[in-house]
Amino acid sequence: MNKYIATLIVLFISACVAVDLTPYGVKLALTKEGKDIQITWLTNDKGNTPVVLYGRASFTPDESSSNDIYPILSNMGKVESLTTLYWSGNSNQAVMTNLTSFTSYFYYVGDREANQWSPMLNFSTRGFDSSNYLKFAVFGDMGHGGVGIDRDENYTLSHIVERQGDLDFVLHVGDIAYADLTKGSRIFGNQTVWEEFLGIIEPVSTALPYMVCPGNHDIFFDLDVYRKTFLMPSNKLDESWYSFNFSGVHFVGFSSEHDFLPFSTQYNWLENELKQYRQQSPNGWLIVYSHRPFYCSTQWGWCEKSELKKLFVDSLEKLLMKYNVDIYLSGHTHSYERSLPVYNGQVLGTYEAPKATIHLTVGTGGNKEGPDRDWLAAPVWSNGPRFSGTGFGTLNVINSQTIQWDFIDNESNTAMDSITITKGTF
Ligand SMILES: *[C@@H]1O[C@H](CO)[C@@H](O)[C@H](O)[C@H]1NC(C)=O
Ligand SMILES: *[C@@H]1O[C@H](CO)[C@@H](O)[C@H](O)[C@H]1NC(C)=O
Ligand SMILES: *[C@@H]1O[C@H](CO)[C@@H](O)[C@H](O)[C@H]1NC(C)=O
Ligand SMILES: *[C@@H]1O[C@H](CO)[C@@H](O)[C@H](O)[C@H]1NC(C)=O
Ligand SMILES: *[C@@H]1O[C@H](CO)[C@@H](O)[C@H](O)[C@H]1NC(C)=O
Ligand SMILES: *[C@@H]1O[C@H](CO)[C@@H](O)[C@H](O)[C@H]1NC(C)=O
Ligand SMILES: [Fe+2]
Repeated sequence: MNKYIATLIVLFISACVAVDLTPYGVKLALTKEGKDIQITWLTNDKGNTPVVLYGRASFTPDESSSNDIYPILSNMGKVESLTTLYWSGNSNQAVMTNLTSFTSYFYYVGDREANQWSPMLNFSTRGFDSSNYLKFAVFGDMGHGGVGIDRDENYTLSHIVERQGDLDFVLHVGDIAYADLTKGSRIFGNQTVWEEFLGIIEPVSTALPYMVCPGNHDIFFDLDVYRKTFLMPSNKLDESWYSFNFSGVHFVGFSSEHDFLPFSTQYNWLENELKQYRQQSPNGWLIVYSHRPFYCSTQWGWCEKSELKKLFVDSLEKLLMKYNVDIYLSGHTHSYERSLPVYNGQVLGTYEAPKATIHLTVGTGGNKEGPDRDWLAAPVWSNGPRFSGTGFGTLNVINSQTIQWDFIDNESNTAMDSITITKGTF
C-alpha cells in the first residue's frame, strides 16, 4: 500500500475515533403546552443520531434492561451547529413525550450510533393538568455568583435544589452566565464562561425545567448562542420571545433586548399573544416576564433616569393593563422589590383583587457585579422590603383565585417577605 493512502486511512480512523459526542450542559425545559419536557445538551462534535432514552425504572443505555412493566422510551433528537469563527460545538435537542403526572423518570441523552451517553439522570413530574396549578422559583442576574466561583455565595442554586420536590420549574429572567465580553465597540461571548455556567446549573437544570429569557449580558453574537443553547418554546428559531401554558397558567416571556417599540415585530407578536389569550380565557392567570423592570427604585441608571426605560414603559405598560396581566417578573437591577398593583405610576387597589399588574423584581441571583445597595426615596407604588442581598422568589399559584408569593433570602433560607394575592379583573 502506498504510504500516502496509508496515512489517509490512519487519519480517517483517528478522526472517527475522536468524534466526541459526550453530552454536557444538559437542561430540561417546558414546551408550549407543558406536558412534554424538552431536553437540550451540547456536544463538541455533530452526531447523526442524537436521542433521549427514558423510563420509569433505572436502566442501561444499551436498552438490554428494558422490561414489559417499565419499557424504555426513546425519541430521536435534532442537532444545530453553534460553530462559527468565535465558537465551537453543537446544540442537541430531543423531547420526552407521553409523560404522566407525579412520576419519576430516569433518562440518558447521547448518540445512539456513537454509543456515547450522559450519566443516568432522573427527574420527577408534578401535576401538569390545570387542577394542580403550580409553583416555580424565579431570579435574574446570576452568573457564577449564584454558585460560589467568583465568590463564596452558592446560596441561590443550593437553596433551590433543596426545594426541588416542591417546584415545577425554575425561571431565570435574564443575565444568565455573564459570558459577554466587550472588545472595542463589539460584544463577543466567552465560551468558557458560558459552558462553566451550564455545568454549574446542572444539579438544578437536569432535575427541573430551566426556563430563561434574554438579558443585556446574553446578547453576544446576535443572541444566536443564547437561543440555540436554551431553545425556549418560540414559534421560530430566530425569535427570542415565546409563550407557554402550564397547569392552567399562561406565561409570556418577551425580550427587553430586542425592538419593543409599537408595531415592531416583537410588539405585534406580544399584543396579539396577550389579546388571543384573554379572548380564550378572560379569567385565567396571566404571568409576563422579561429582563427589565417597569418599576424599580434603586439609585442606578435604569431605575433612576433612563431614556430607554421611558420608551419601554411608554410602549409596553399599556399592554399589561389592557390584557389584565396579573404579575410581571423581572431582574436587571440587583435587588428585590415588589410593587402594589400599579399602572402609569398610580396605585390601583390592593393585593386583594388588584386593579392593575403587580411587579416583582428579583435581580438577586448573586452575580459578580454585586447588589445595588442604594435606594431612591420609596415611591408610592413601593410596598414591603427593598432588599439588596441575594435570594430568589417562589410563586405558588394555589388555585384559580389565589397566588402565594415568597422571597427567600440567602442568609436565612426562609421567606423574608410573603404576600397573598387574590385574582383581580381589570
Ligand atoms: C407515545 O404514545 C403514542 C400513542 O400511544 C405512541 O404512538 C408513541 O409511540 C409513544 N411515544 C413513545 C416515545 O413511547
Ligand atoms: C436522582 O439524581 C440525584 C442527583 O441529581 C441523585 O442524588 C438521586 O439519588 C437520584 N435518584 C435516584 C432514585 O437514583
Ligand atoms: C456550594 O459550594 C460548596 C463549596 O464550594 C460546594 O461543595 C457545593 O457543591 C456547592 N453547592 C452547589 C449546589 O453548587
Ligand atoms: C474567557 O474566560 C476564561 C475563564 O474565566 C478566561 O480564562 C479567558 O481569559 C476568557 N477569555 C477572554 C478572551 O477573555
Ligand atoms: C394556551 O392556552 C390558551 C387558552 O387557554 C390558548 O389560546 C393557547 O393557544 C394555548 N397555547 C399556547 C402555546 O399559548
Ligand atoms: C448573602 O448575600 C449578601 C449580599 O450579596 C452577602 O453580603 C452575604 O455575605 C451573603 N450571605 C452569606 C451567608 O454569605
Ligand atoms: Fe441586566
